[in-house]
Amino acid sequence: MAYRKMSAEEAASLINDGDIISLSGFTATGCPKAVPTALAHKAEAEHAAGKPFQVGMYTGASTGESADGVLSRAHAIKFRTPYQSHKDSREELNRQGMHYCDLHLSELSQYLRYGFLPKPNFAILEVCDITEDGKAVLTSAVGIAPTIVHLAEKIILELNAYHPKELLGMHDIYEPADPPYRREIPIYTPSDRIGLPYIQLDPKKVAGIVETNLPNEIGAFSPLDSVTKKIGENVSNFLASEMKAGRIPMSFLPVQSGVGNVANAVLGAMGSNKDIPPFEIYTEVIQDSVVGLMREGHVKFASGCSLSLTTPVLNEVYADLDFFKQKFLLRPQEISNNPEIARRLGLISINTALEADIFGNINSSHVLGTKMMNGIGGSGDFCRNSYLSIFTTPSTAKDGKISSIVPMVSHVDHNEHSVKILITEHGVADLRGKSPVQRAEAIIHNCVAPEYRGLLTDFLNLGVKGHTPQNLKSCFAMHQAFAETGDMRLTKW
Ligand code: COA
Repeated sequence: MAYRKMSAEEAASLINDGDIISLSGFTATGCPKAVPTALAHKAEAEHAAGKPFQVGMYTGASTGESADGVLSRAHAIKFRTPYQSHKDSREELNRQGMHYCDLHLSELSQYLRYGFLPKPNFAILEVCDITEDGKAVLTSAVGIAPTIVHLAEKIILELNAYHPKELLGMHDIYEPADPPYRREIPIYTPSDRIGLPYIQLDPKKVAGIVETNLPNEIGAFSPLDSVTKKIGENVSNFLASEMKAGRIPMSFLPVQSGVGNVANAVLGAMGSNKDIPPFEIYTEVIQDSVVGLMREGHVKFASGCSLSLTTPVLNEVYADLDFFKQKFLLRPQEISNNPEIARRLGLISINTALEADIFGNINSSHVLGTKMMNGIGGSGDFCRNSYLSIFTTPSTAKDGKISSIVPMVSHVDHNEHSVKILITEHGVADLRGKSPVQRAEAIIHNCVAPEYRGLLTDFLNLGVKGHTPQNLKSCFAMHQAFAETGDMRLTKW
């Protein structure tokens, strides 16, 4: 092979203080691991010698322990976009140790091409195969890989033997032209293929290949509890009733489902609802529950950006690649999360809120308004553009001391104009076509935990009369009470 083999340490030695690195992958799957880890060690050594060492980092979405984890603990990241979910990275950015730009995931590739962000110096890709003429087969995710190979000055490849070369054929690599030359993206059903099964990169840019054999780093899901189970049932019963009412076709519509425990549980519940026919998925992350649903015939096809599967489930897929290669297609996030396609396909999008307000605004990212949890991810790409945008949340957090439904969200990610349905373990609030007061009544009556219903009804009555009866003096009193006493249950407004 024409490429130079090198150790991860040698590859890291090429990267200098102030450089920008960009990684393949999407969530802790398909990301390079050896080179970022070696880079963290290099940063620690430089810091110990009293020298500065920090890089900027672009990724598809979150990464795992071997990128965000090690680099955050080494204080080696100066600037990071578009999404993270590692506890150490969260801690680093919340203490303002790094600048974090929380971005709609569909937008990053074009942000880079448009020059809204500086070009990366290095693209570091995890691949399962590479030919001498630069045909690179990605592993279990795509992310921003097709764009960064063009923009970066140099490319480093991690050739990871954990992933079989037979993954060739599971990816659909397509990059749209930029305005004013962009045309429609010709995807009309989730299984449409429009691009190449590999990335064509310039072999002359490849600085070296690091050989590895490392599994992905996706964490296990929490076991289903009665709350997540009930939310899942409420979502699936609601969708079945929409079908009966003729608002979802009998053949169903493609589903987008978000990240985390609740999202995984919701899809599971949809599969076991006998009134919901086998359906297709057009989403960003394909989580564990999809694999079982496919085997059982409940999910016909899944297009996504990543196989965000825990290692045992990914191994199950790799052991039966002939079956799953007919069922999965992995696309760049610019395509998996594309607003044009979400609107055209008529997606049913189901995402999770940390906090919602009684008027239908959603906070998916900021704990109590200030601390970043993960980021907006793809939820905004889908929420604004889908056929039916659903948000789910447990009605309370921290043993009932926090109500997830409050008078006014402490941070807005998705606003009342885009959110159509809110679902908790207590029920469903259908916000379509309702005024702010009607939305508040539906949410308080159907979704709020019983111990907060009276409080929020009183708040609504306190509101200054107007289109939205808001009370600016009291709207954060529940948050304030939690900050002062550790409990949102006010005795009076
Ligand atoms: N205030 C403060 N803390 C809250 C809270 C609130 N209103 N609601 C939940 N929490 C806490 C929980 O107690 C839990 O804390 P812990 O980790 O200390 O136990 C934590 O937040 C996470 O809650 P959990 O119910 O386990 O979340 P999840 O795994 O279902 O993930 C999100 C929920 C919102 C964090 C996650 O879906 C997310 O990051 N979404 C944004 C990105 C996105 O939607 N991407 C998909 C688009 S395709």
